[in-house]
Order: sequence, then C-alpha cells, then structure tokens
Amino acid sequence: MNQSTGFLRMLSMTAALGLASALLAGPAVAADAAAAVKSGTGPAAVVLVAGATGGTGREVVRQALASGYRVRALVRDEARARPLLGDAVEYVVGNVLEPATLGRALQGVDYVVSALGSNSQKEPENRPERVDYGGVKSLAEAASKAGVKHFVLVSSMGVTQPDHYLNKAFDNILTWKLKGEDALRASGLRYTIVRPGGLRDEPGGKAGIRAMQGDPKGIRAGIPRADVAAVCVNALGRADADRKTFEIVSGVEGERVDWASFFAGFAADGR
Ligand SMILES: NC(=O)c1ccc[n+]([C@@H]2O[C@H](COP(=O)([O-])OP(=O)(O)OC[C@H]3O[C@@H](n4cnc5c(N)ncnc54)[C@H](OP(=O)(O)O)[C@@H]3O)[C@@H](O)[C@H]2O)c1
Repeated sequence: MNQSTGFLRMLSMTAALGLASALLAGPAVAADAAAAVKSGTGPAAVVLVAGATGGTGREVVRQALASGYRVRALVRDEARARPLLGDAVEYVVGNVLEPATLGRALQGVDYVVSALGSNSQKEPENRPERVDYGGVKSLAEAASKAGVKHFVLVSSMGVTQPDHYLNKAFDNILTWKLKGEDALRASGLRYTIVRPGGLRDEPGGKAGIRAMQGDPKGIRAGIPRADVAAVCVNALGRADADRKTFEIVSGVEGERVDWASFFAGFAADGR
C-alpha cells in the first residue's frame, strides 16, 4: 500500500490513540449507488451475487435491487433460494467448487459481489481451502473471462494474522481467505476487498463505519451484515474503490456515510 497517503497518516494518528482506525460517516442504504444507476453510469447494470442466500448476500441482493440494479443470484439450490430472495431476481444455479458451472452464470454480468463463505462444519467438502480460496479464485477467473467491470469481495478482518484464533477453530479459514483475496488481485479485474469484523444480524444504517487499513491486531468489534452490504453495493463501479482493501466495523451511533470520501480515503493496494 502507498504509505504516503494522508489516510494512512490519519491511521497512524489514531493508532497512537490505540484505535488504528478512522471514523467515517455512517451508511445510508445504497443512496450513491442508486444515483449512479439513475444518472446513466449503471443503467440496468447486472450484478451477480455469489453467496446470495447467506446473511450478507441476502442484504446485498435487497440493497442492489433497491438501488436499481438487475440482480442475478448464484445459488446452489433454487428451490431453497426463491423463498429467501423472491421473484425480483434472476436465478442461476452454480457451485464454486465446480468451475464449469460459472461461465454461464457470468454471461452479461457487469459487476460481481461475492459474499461466499465456507461451512465445513455442516458440509465437510465445503471447506475454506475449497470455497474461500478455490471458489473465489474460480469465480474471479470466470469473471475476468466474462469481462466483468468490478468485483467486490467480502473477506474478513484478521486474514493477515496466521495465529488468529479463527484459523485454529476453522481449518485456517483466514489464511485461505487471504489466498482468495490474492487470487482476485491477480485476476486483472477491478476489485474492492471489504474485510468486516464480526458480523451481526441487525438493522443497518444506525451507526457510522469505522474503517481502517493494514489489518491491525486487537480490534474486537463487529458490524451489521446490512452495513457490510451497503459498502459493497456502494462500491460497485466506482473508480475510487478500485484496488482497495480495507477493514470495517461499526462506528459512532447516528453518523452517516459520505460514500465519496469513504472510498477516496483509502490507499490503493501496491502493484
Ligand atoms: N461470521 C462472521 O462474524 C464473519 C466475520 C467476518 C467475515 N465473515 C465473512 O463474511 C462472508 C459472509 O458471511 P455470512 O455469515 O453472511 O455468510 P453465510 O450466511 O455463511 O453465507 C455463505 C453463502 O455462501 C454460499 N456458498 C457456500 N458454499 C458454496 C459453494 N460451494 N458454491 C456456491 N455458494 C456457496 C452459501 O450458499 P448455501 O445457502 O447454498 O449454503 C451462502 O449463500 C463470509 O465470507 C464470511 O466468512 C464472517
């Protein structure tokens, strides 16, 4: 990362306060994204949501639809997905463990949001190495082939910390997520990598977003899935979100996000 940016200087100031974070204003639901769609920068743009049936993915679907995007949901089981996501989305059946199922899913897609997550405790074959790394890599490669304009990946805080307790508890999940991030970085796609703290099923838009870069240790904080989704949807198609990786947790109650300063404030990943 470019260490010379004002943003990281701000981070080092807050680190001195023991926070290693920046306070940014709170998440209005996808307002900027809606403006972009309406202004013609993304008319009827198609967003493929991977992990659409998951907690975060469902929120991404809801907010992308509310912002005027056409939404295609990549699901493993359409009959199970439809009651969760409704009839306003297009369904495409695929499994990131089977790359051959992804080409068709990505045809005509402008943007991808991946909120995929492994669940090896329920499905042993669906382990982090195969989903959080292999699945993300396959999806990014298929997206690159299909000419996708921007890929937003939900990763996790802590991915650069091999000794993190989540690695011990869940088959090195964070390390595999970092490899998934790197596969996306290597794909040639425009990308944004969002690394949330602990996810909560709570309404979004109630608090600001505390954002940081460099995956600082010792952050014990969470964020509603709806606010993670708002970051993902608002990132779509933004040049100032390209090649950016950042961590997010909830900020101050009652604050709202100014999305332009939110994304512009991050340093881009080094090449
Ligand atoms: N939990 C936390 O506190 C936390 C913190 C930071 C980051 N994260 C990360 O944030 C992301 C979203 O988490 P979440 O809890 O909202 O997700 P989630 O509810 O666990 O949903 C995971 C999604 O991935 C899909 N999926 C799993 N294996 C798949 C496969 N082989 N092919 C296609 N789709 C597959 C699932 O589909 P099915 O419905 O078919 O199973 C589901 O839609 C995950 O990457 C997670 O690791 C979580």
